[in-house]
Amino acid sequence: MDYRIFNSDEIDHQQCYRLLIGSIVPRPIAWVSSMDENGVPNLAPFSFFSIVSHYPPLVSITVGEREKEKKDTAANISTTGGYVVHTVTDGWEQQMNASAANFARDQNEFAELGLETVPSDLVDAPRIKDCPVAMECQFEQMQEFGDDWKTYLVIGKVLRWHVREDLMLDDKYINPHTLQPVGRLGGPRYCRTHDIYEMQAPYIQPDVGHPNTGERN
Ligand SMILES: Cc1cc2nc3c(=O)[nH]c(=O)nc-3n(C[C@H](O)[C@H](O)[C@H](O)COP(=O)(O)O)c2cc1C
Repeated sequence: MDYRIFNSDEIDHQQCYRLLIGSIVPRPIAWVSSMDENGVPNLAPFSFFSIVSHYPPLVSITVGEREKEKKDTAANISTTGGYVVHTVTDGWEQQMNASAANFARDQNEFAELGLETVPSDLVDAPRIKDCPVAMECQFEQMQEFGDDWKTYLVIGKVLRWHVREDLMLDDKYINPHTLQPVGRLGGPRYCRTHDIYEMQAPYIQPDVGHPNTGERN
């Protein structure tokens, strides 16, 4: 079989980006509400988004620069600490995408997009009203990477989940069939989650047993 070889130290940042967003797919999208030091709320999507640890429940987003400055989300989180990560699902894509526009720092994306909010319980940043899943998070750590172009890995602890009641499965899980999450692919492409299948893991998973209790299969 023929393969194309790309060495990361021989390609520019655009080609690195194209290969990463094409290889690491589909990516979940963190739709992040944060607040600046003057109380102006901010909303933006991030698909460089992952679980860091399940206990403590830590999640990461990776936020790039714009005009040599941290984007508002990273600046806000490092300044005010509390933020909310929403899961993007069918029906919310257009507003999610619109919230990625280059709004000025003192512009309120919620107001610009006509998105209603509700107050969060534990952090200052508001939640999007009626969003199916929201996680109130507390900033833990930020790590900077890069020279010409800086990227900030932002890690936060989930303090509280808000899961729409009808999404609960067996009172324990979030039902992916009813959640209908949206994923980001390479370029301007996205995917829906309408073809779900099951496969049992060949080991005891942390939702069933503790990984350190010596349970083996
Ligand atoms: C689906 C999607 C995913 C995105 N993922 C990222 C990302 O992981 N990191 C990033 O820096 N920008 C990402 N962006 C671009 C930001 O959302 C955009 O730059 C936004 O204006 C940042 O807003 P802020 O300055 O209010 O934080 C993404 C945009 C879209 C539409």
